[in-house]
Amino acid sequence: MARSGVFVCLFLAAFVGEFCLGHEEEVAKCIDGPYHKDKPSPEGPDYVECQPWKENTCCTAGFTAQLEKSNVEVLYNFSWHHCGNLSKECERYIKNEECFYSCEPSLIKWHTSGGGVKQVPICADYCDKWYDACKNDMTCAEDWLADFNFTLSQYSCRTDSKCLRFSELYKDGEGLCNKMWGQSFTYEKSNNCMVMWFDGKNPNEKVKLNTTGENPAGAAVTSYQSKFINIALALSLIKLLC
Ligand SMILES: *[C@@H]1O[C@H](CO)[C@@H](O)[C@H](O)[C@H]1NC(C)=O
Ligand SMILES: *[C@@H]1O[C@H](CO)[C@@H](O)[C@H](O)[C@H]1NC(C)=O
Ligand SMILES: *[C@@H]1O[C@H](CO)[C@@H](O)[C@H](O)[C@H]1NC(C)=O
Ligand SMILES: *[C@@H]1O[C@H](CO)[C@@H](O)[C@H](O)[C@H]1NC(C)=O
Repeated sequence: MARSGVFVCLFLAAFVGEFCLGHEEEVAKCIDGPYHKDKPSPEGPDYVECQPWKENTCCTAGFTAQLEKSNVEVLYNFSWHHCGNLSKECERYIKNEECFYSCEPSLIKWHTSGGGVKQVPICADYCDKWYDACKNDMTCAEDWLADFNFTLSQYSCRTDSKCLRFSELYKDGEGLCNKMWGQSFTYEKSNNCMVMWFDGKNPNEKVKLNTTGENPAGAAVTSYQSKFINIALALSLIKLLC
């Protein structure tokens, strides 16, 4: 067979691999968090919180039971009520965030290392509502991943911190989504964005990585893996096509 023919076949096979099969491969895994399963799957009657994800979820039923019973106090030795009690409305949004982080299968595309995610695009409208629910509530840490005192597996307010209103710390929904969980989330004005709660079919599945911006370190790993799969696929397709 002529050399140019081989090239055409290779190109065709790689093209089929990249666009037909690469993506599902990336989504069928969970991030590496403390209460995450390896792969998303449905859960049964013991799954009592985070209901939107029940049919395809990365978190365990045990996680949802503990979240319902004690928020995250037993799960992480961390109290949301560290500056007096949060309002019910605000508490609901923070619970949504815990569900989203632990249960959402699509987060794999934004994963970094050790269960982290970077710059997951959160819908501007969702961030604004979250801010609205929490603006009069109090916290002692701007960045909930970095600014608490973590000693003997317990989180507490640093002695040099003080309790401030969410409105003083974050100013608006954009500040809240961009700062509260370090670099995990980003306030996204386009439609390519995720929500932390929904009815019916999961709308986050269709959200794509922003490839024009800076990608999270882990995304490179994922796309490397999918390239590897594509090469294997291309080689087997060559046999078929050529
Ligand atoms: C919570 O703190 C206790 C006491 O320090 C410790 O034994 C336990 O392992 C901690 N749990 C978690 C999930 O870190
Ligand atoms: C906070 O909530 C707990 C239980 O929900 C309650 O016992 C306590 O009195 C509340 N504290 C304040 C300051 O409202
Ligand atoms: C952190 O917590 C430990 C234990 O409660 C305490 O000894 C230490 O002073 C705290 N450090 C800061 C910076 O808050
Ligand atoms: C993608 O990332 C770039 C650089 O970070 C940013 O300027 C742009 O607005 C982003 N686009 C979308 C659709 O998120």
